[in-house]
Amino acid sequence: MLRKQPVYRWIHHVMKELNNDIGCFHFRNCHVIVVNSPKIAGEILTEHDTVFASRPETMATQLISGGYLTTALNVGGEQWKKMRRILVSEIVSQSKMRGLLDMRKQEADNLVRFLYNHCSNNVNGEVVNVRTAALHYPANTIRRMMFSLRYFGKGSEDGGPGFEEEEHISSLFAMLLHIYAFCVSDYFPWLQTLDLDGHRKMVCEAMKVVKKYHDPIVNDRFQQWREGRNKEEPHDLLDVLVSLKDSDGNPILSEDEIRAQVLEIFLATVDNPFNTAEWALSEMLNQPKLIEKAVEELDRVVGKDRLLQESDIPHLRYVVACTREALRLHPVAPFNLPHVSTADCVVANYLIPKGSSVLLSRLGLGRNPAVWDDPLQFDPERHLSERHVDLAERELRFISFSRGRRGCVAADLGSNITVMLLGRLLQGFTWNIPKGVEKIDLTESNNSLLKITPLFAQAKPRLNPSVYMSLL
Ligand code: HEM
Repeated sequence: MLRKQPVYRWIHHVMKELNNDIGCFHFRNCHVIVVNSPKIAGEILTEHDTVFASRPETMATQLISGGYLTTALNVGGEQWKKMRRILVSEIVSQSKMRGLLDMRKQEADNLVRFLYNHCSNNVNGEVVNVRTAALHYPANTIRRMMFSLRYFGKGSEDGGPGFEEEEHISSLFAMLLHIYAFCVSDYFPWLQTLDLDGHRKMVCEAMKVVKKYHDPIVNDRFQQWREGRNKEEPHDLLDVLVSLKDSDGNPILSEDEIRAQVLEIFLATVDNPFNTAEWALSEMLNQPKLIEKAVEELDRVVGKDRLLQESDIPHLRYVVACTREALRLHPVAPFNLPHVSTADCVVANYLIPKGSSVLLSRLGLGRNPAVWDDPLQFDPERHLSERHVDLAERELRFISFSRGRRGCVAADLGSNITVMLLGRLLQGFTWNIPKGVEKIDLTESNNSLLKITPLFAQAKPRLNPSVYMSLL
């Protein structure tokens, strides 16, 4: 494991050699089952969903979830049920999301403002760093909804991130890179103190940074609610978490549970939307006809006198198909979150022993040539035969929000953030490959599935100038 880095690439290489849609990797006394076929994935997450509803215990998830106090990283059981119930009914419910629409709109406006500030001084537009804008947008949105803040620090005049936001997000990504990342000591616990692969050190350092930003805000909010200074309705998601009471008027969540769950919500929000939008725009720049079609749809549905809103999304079949295609071809992570079996179970005629970790391969499913024609081609049209085009993939032909008991609780919010990001980029600006560059480089990074280099592209405002003026 220490030599075969990154491990996910080695696993996919072995799967290819096996030429099978299910494989078993035996790491010490743990069976890791990798699945590339929608049919087998469906068997696991529908027929045997209850058996596979647990998650592994690992060094990173233990630390990040505060000892399994949260939802996604929780191994399962009563604590998971309690937290999942709260998220579904109190945090990402339709009514809560409606109530926080204006906060999301403010951040979507800030995205356009930030890019406009960088490309409007030249009649031909300017080359901008799309990654910076895309990376910070989901984080800005959840920071606003969670803490009612645009910035942790002073931020930046142009609407871009300040030092604090840069530091915060790079720590979140450091954690994401180490969650379920084949850490040697997860399989050989007695090696934990040696930290041979350095995972523990990196996770601890990232936690320290994130705590530096979250803790003062969360602590202050506890204090406000304890002293009764917050007499009004909860204003943001942190208020909701702090003010939840049982029928006897006692807090439902402890301070540790809230701290851990806040962090997990940030982690759950920041990576997929940014990665999807950056890849989609990169692929589309190399096939300008796709940009033309998307822009034609945006002009027809939204026009040039106002900005795209969440309520427009159901009418944007083509833009949604482009987003969906990027989720299929360029998942942010090689595998779905692992599911652990709590009993022996037969799947596709193979015995999967109790305690196995099942990894549905996001790469293997989304790029499976038995499922997708020309799987490596970015082709949004392939989704247009569906009656209703959205980002959910119930048949598990690729993984977007997955399904079943451990499926994503926030498919609507995740979809809105992702489509708004790509949609506003496409609607607000004319995009071109920078002069002197032949094609956008579509190489993946060496140790992750992100694009190896940030996307730089020429942006030029394309809407009625009054639209941008209203944002300044
Ligand atoms: C485009 C954005 C998003 C995508 C593609 C996505 C995808 C996923 C996937 C693949 C899973 C794992 C499902 C499984 O284990 O089978 C998951 C779980 C989860 N997601 Fe999302 N997600 C997104 C946004 C969000 C957001 C914004 C939140 C929170 C506000 C969220 C909260 C969760 C939680 C709590 C779980 C764990 C559920 C459980 O273990 O019971 N996700 N998500």
